Amino acid sequence: MPRKTPPQPPGEQDAEPSKANVDQCRRCELWEHATQGVAGEGPRDARILLVGEQPGDEEDIQGRPFVGPAGRLLRALLDEAGLPPAQVFMTNAVKHFFFEPRGKRRIHKTPLQRHIAACQAWLEAEVSRVHPAVIVTLGATALAAVYGGKIAIAAARTQKLASPEGTPIIATYHPSAALRAPDHDARAKLRATLLSDLKRAARMAAKG
Ligand code: URA
Repeated sequence: MPRKTPPQPPGEQDAEPSKANVDQCRRCELWEHATQGVAGEGPRDARILLVGEQPGDEEDIQGRPFVGPAGRLLRALLDEAGLPPAQVFMTNAVKHFFFEPRGKRRIHKTPLQRHIAACQAWLEAEVSRVHPAVIVTLGATALAAVYGGKIAIAAARTQKLASPEGTPIIATYHPSAALRAPDHDARAKLRATLLSDLKRAARMAAKG
């Protein structure tokens, strides 16, 4: 499905998606309240590129992706799936934390379409530099950013999907869904689904 990257200011189209450049990004307003931009992290030749939604509270403070509670679950599941986290490139659809202050807490807000669109060029630059065999999308925001069209995760899990550039996509749920599910059974089921999808990604990456 075609995706349109919004026009970028002159000179920014080919910017290296480095920590410093992402941190300086002013393409939308999210930088104003975030601590810093969080760029993707991992080997340049990773076979698997994993896309989350956006940095959370801890990621915003540390400046690294997937270091908070959802990230710890994700890293444990990657290990269990036989994918050492250090061999996977991890990034997010949106590179600055979007939140609502509530007292001393910062409550996560789902990024808006314009935040995803403003960040699209960073994600595309990361994908084209890593050139992974498989992209794993975690949650609806990541799936929309990578696939470019509207599709529910449950439907996407049962279909052969590819990014507009032709990289196979494994769509799965966000690890925070497995943390937030209302009861033990629902949490266990989501955890098992995530693990099986990561194993599927590992098999696909080993083949290609
Ligand atoms: N959730 C995400 O989607 N990404 C992170 O980096 C952390 C939590």
